[in-house]
Amino acid sequence: MNDSNDRSQWKSSYGFLLAAVGSAVGLGNIWRFSFLCHKNGGGAFLIPYFVALFIVGIPLLVLEFALGHKKQGSAPAALEKVGKEWEWLGWWPVIFVMFGIVLYYNVIIGWCVNYMVMAFRSIWSGFPWAEDSQSFFYNDFLALSDTVWSLGSLRWQILLATILVWVVNWSICFRHVEKGVEAACKIFMPLLLLLTLTLVFWSLTLPGAMQGVKAYLYPDWTLLSKKQVWQDAFGQIFFSLSLGFGIMIAYASYLPRKVNIIRYALITSLADTLYSFVAGFAVFSILGYMAQEIGATVHGVVTEGPGLAFVVYPKALTLMGNLTGGLLGTIFFLTLCVAGLSSSISIIEAFTAAALDKFKIVRARLVTITCSIGFVGSLVFCSRAGLFWLDIVDHFLNGYGLMTVGLVECLLVGWYYEHGRMRDHLGQSSGKPIGALVASWWDWSIKFIAPGSLFLIIFWSLRGEISHPYGGYPVSAVVIIGGGWVLLTHFAAVFFSHLKWKLR
Ligand code: PFF
Repeated sequence: MNDSNDRSQWKSSYGFLLAAVGSAVGLGNIWRFSFLCHKNGGGAFLIPYFVALFIVGIPLLVLEFALGHKKQGSAPAALEKVGKEWEWLGWWPVIFVMFGIVLYYNVIIGWCVNYMVMAFRSIWSGFPWAEDSQSFFYNDFLALSDTVWSLGSLRWQILLATILVWVVNWSICFRHVEKGVEAACKIFMPLLLLLTLTLVFWSLTLPGAMQGVKAYLYPDWTLLSKKQVWQDAFGQIFFSLSLGFGIMIAYASYLPRKVNIIRYALITSLADTLYSFVAGFAVFSILGYMAQEIGATVHGVVTEGPGLAFVVYPKALTLMGNLTGGLLGTIFFLTLCVAGLSSSISIIEAFTAAALDKFKIVRARLVTITCSIGFVGSLVFCSRAGLFWLDIVDHFLNGYGLMTVGLVECLLVGWYYEHGRMRDHLGQSSGKPIGALVASWWDWSIKFIAPGSLFLIIFWSLRGEISHPYGGYPVSAVVIIGGGWVLLTHFAAVFFSHLKWKLR
């Protein structure tokens, strides 16, 4: 079906933008951004967030788009053209995201599928978590084991949903990009917008919603002096914009020659930010409602990550009664599924593009093998210790992997590879030279500001790591699982970069 010598191309720039925004908007926007805002000074957090966006996020997105577009290749192919010795840097992120981050990301989408079905069924048969949503999530649904090493049996409902998620991913990526990812995002993204706006407007009408919105956005300027607040803003920008994943490089490589890269980077990053900001109203209105119903403060009910989506949110649904809670819950978990899928297909596409560029395999066969290996890798996260593994792998790959890739990319393009040529490319491809102000903003950012701030953040995180092993887990688990995953994927990247290019 696919002749492997032709590189795919987007049908339209609109299709490309939908796919890039689809990759950026994901689970992280819905449950992570709003929580970070609340924790780090409410509206005041928007300051570090926008600073991180303008000095690191957008410049790096421009860099990744420009790299893929100029070199017409996926991450390894593009970096190999920068210098043979840098090919591993292209392989590493596509491998650690494809065989790390997305393994558990798909399992979380699987949890969302389960909760969506349970919320829907509760319209007529009541919520299974009505008594205690926390105990239901940890003890009944995940059946969480006592330690990281006691994997126990597989949770069959999670396993079934994870199979479904991998099959959907496979069925989309197995086609050429314009018929696969692009066509899927043309359905996913408008649907996501519709679902999100429904959630936001519905949630805002609930009693107590304003109390929640106040907790979300009321600014506390004093927190801005805290290092952690800035670390959180930079981390969120990386994960949310899918930077350092190798995805944006591959996506830009499918663009035609004449495009305005800077405009595309601005649209993608602002759409992602706007989505996070708006989705926060839905999350916090519900928290405000719940706080009012149980006579607590919003601060007292809010938690982070999975706890927010799978414990607190479900509890709020039960307070609304079966019909309203069931319907709102179905929409909420469906929104998470759609947002998650449009992100997970992007990394499968990025890995596929990389392997196609190098080995010229038939796409359908490659995607089938990749998704099958991915599914087998997801199994550990479907076990009873899955949540522990997820937490550790996420901490290391997200916390260090993505930013390290971003840092080296900046140093490489800013200093080693002729930075001027890349800047000229931005002008040539848009048909007119870029303005002096934009050029110096980009130069300064890529050469000094972005690498400097990324270095500081990685350094602070590492220092913290040594003084307190992550999450109170046994040191052995942190070193073996977290460190092991980082090292193994790194070795795999070096190994792949030493293999021969098929058609050169
Ligand atoms: N940008 C996504 C988010 O904010 O949720 C992160 C992501 C995860 C992108 C996994 C792609 C991916 F495969």
